[in-house]
Amino acid sequence: MTDRIETLAVHAGAEPDEISGGVSPSIQMSTTFRQDGVGKPRRGYEYGRSGNPTRQALEAAIAALEGGAHGLAYASGLAATQNLLYLLEPGERLILSDDAYGGTWRLASKVWSRYGVVTEAVNLCDLDALAAALANGPAVRMVWVETPTNPLMKVVDISAVARVAASAGALTVVDNTFATPFLQRPLELGADVVMHSATKYLSGHSDVISGLLVTRRDDLEERLRFHQNAAGAVPSPFDCWLVMRGMRTLAVRMERASSNAAAIAGWLAARDEVAAVYYPGLASHPQHELVERQMRLPGAMLSFELRAGEPAARRLAEATRLFTLAESLGAVESLIELPAVMTHLSAADSPLEVPAGLVRLSVGIEAIDDLVADLEAALRAAAA
Ligand SMILES: Cc1ncc(COP(=O)(O)O)c(C=O)c1O
Repeated sequence: MTDRIETLAVHAGAEPDEISGGVSPSIQMSTTFRQDGVGKPRRGYEYGRSGNPTRQALEAAIAALEGGAHGLAYASGLAATQNLLYLLEPGERLILSDDAYGGTWRLASKVWSRYGVVTEAVNLCDLDALAAALANGPAVRMVWVETPTNPLMKVVDISAVARVAASAGALTVVDNTFATPFLQRPLELGADVVMHSATKYLSGHSDVISGLLVTRRDDLEERLRFHQNAAGAVPSPFDCWLVMRGMRTLAVRMERASSNAAAIAGWLAARDEVAAVYYPGLASHPQHELVERQMRLPGAMLSFELRAGEPAARRLAEATRLFTLAESLGAVESLIELPAVMTHLSAADSPLEVPAGLVRLSVGIEAIDDLVADLEAALRAAAA
């Protein structure tokens, strides 16, 4: 019998320690492992870069949560992305969502371009645009989906994109950082690989940089595992343990943060100072019907624009008390930022450029009344 995701989050990869019975997984820091004979590693472990029991526990946990067969852990979300891009050959194309994390765009368009990989930004909400991009130009090896997108909260139909991509012989990768497997499970919708910046919701406490991949396909796992070892961007066992500790409370954190975000989105939408709110849970969101079909809850990320524009947005972001002015997202504490000059600076002058006055919130698990009062005071300060 398969346990539900709330149960899996607590138990997957967290078997009591075999020797002591400790209910928190052990951290095995050893970089090398005694062999029972020449070339006979005990239980398969030989060297920490190629395999480590603590890392394996995390990899098993994320595979269980995503409904995958294989998990792979990396030193950061971008290291996981890099490992996926090793699947591309020179001359092949990568299609990337036209609203996406700026660092993904930077890695693909500024680093991989030097090795002959061509990256094209496409609005993946428009299936005709995707089909046209697939049909015109060099072979597309991979379609990279982010949904909801960062920072404009567009929602992409994962099963439709996976179907169109597969018919053109392309892999579908979903960056599931914003939604987490608690809200959406891309492998069940036909994606080939799920990628995470585990730095965000999975670890949940702004204290570890980490990345993960999950797939059901043995052939992909074999190639990804080869590159995980060959390129070496692996996480420390302690970092793996921190991610696992965070993942155990994923369900309760996501429920609370999502309900806070829904309340804030509704409140902002009713304010005169606010010109637009981007949140998948609003009935006015252009893909609201898809959100209800694809996501368990609309998540805890939202962005908005003020009628008074960019200078007021800056004043607002500098005036909050509880919403900390900082990059990143997905932790227990609420954060506020201006993507155009912070998280998405690397997308300036590119097809992924974001509006200058856009404000992005990562809503945490604090009391909703305190968060609303903080935003209300900051809106007043921004207008002064
Ligand atoms: C959606 C998304 N994907 C990938 C990344 C990159 O992950 P990391 O910072 O762990 O390398 C980020 C980081 O902000 C992100 O927000």
